Amino acid sequence: MVSISLAGRVALVTGAGGDLGRGIALCLARAGARVLVNDRALERAQRTCEMVSEAGGAALADGSDVTDAAAVATMTARAQQEFGRLDILVNNAGGIRDALIERMSDADWDQVCNLNLKAAFVCARAATPLLRRSSAGRVVNIASMAYRGNVGQSNYAAAKAGLVGLTRSLGLELARDGITVNCVAPGLIETPKSASLPDAVRERLIRTTPMRRMGTIDDIAHAVLFFASDLAAFASRQVLHVSGGMEGF
Ligand SMILES: NC(=O)c1ccc[n+]([C@@H]2O[C@H](COP(=O)([O-])OP(=O)(O)OC[C@H]3O[C@@H](n4cnc5c(N)ncnc54)[C@H](O)[C@@H]3O)[C@@H](O)[C@H]2O)c1
Repeated sequence: MVSISLAGRVALVTGAGGDLGRGIALCLARAGARVLVNDRALERAQRTCEMVSEAGGAALADGSDVTDAAAVATMTARAQQEFGRLDILVNNAGGIRDALIERMSDADWDQVCNLNLKAAFVCARAATPLLRRSSAGRVVNIASMAYRGNVGQSNYAAAKAGLVGLTRSLGLELARDGITVNCVAPGLIETPKSASLPDAVRERLIRTTPMRRMGTIDDIAHAVLFFASDLAAFASRQVLHVSGGMEGF
């Protein structure tokens, strides 16, 4: 029987005190999953947990830095201790430090690659033994349409393109365990941060999006829910562009 319900499942969403991560955590919780809500900014993770609770769901906050392998090992062990299992890992934590190439520092490069790419590897490695025990193990990586290239984002684009490579390799490695690994690549999404874009930039981006609008946080959360659910049991190693038809910046 096909079901969109995640009842009985446990999800870990990284960076879930932020805009998209919070929406993803809420969406998975509304579908019945219990959620370990990670964010290095613990108070933001706690706020997400309160919102899950208000929506009738169950969540626990975790303040681990996902670029720190020791902290990540403790975090995944918590999923096992507190919830008894882990079925779904959403590698959502990410961020930018934009600069044109000659102005991009080593620190800009390292920080962006560590957060957007290495953290996903570290979390997937720590979660794999638990996901193997699930009958419906899922990894969903949050990339960006910038993986196809964007001016001033060579670090971010390279990290997100790397995340696509990680998705395709890990999907092969874990297929025999019934674990699917997929990627969601958001286009321009309406968030408090994007509201601060200069009007001209915002208008240009909307004009170059075939659907002529920005995406919503729910547009992304619903794509993650699809990959996390039984509906996507046979879909793996895919990159879903959730971008209103936009193919690149
Ligand atoms: N917002 C968009 O328009 C958009 C578009 C394309 C892709 N994305 C991707 O979606 C994901 C979420 O983006 P967002 O806009 O919600 O970002 P956000 O900045 O609102 O949230 C990111 C969260 O990650 C947390 N974080 C940062 N470093 C961390 C670390 N080392 N360990 C744990 N948590 C850490 C931050 O505290 C923050 O709460 C990112 O991977 C981003 O690249 C976003």
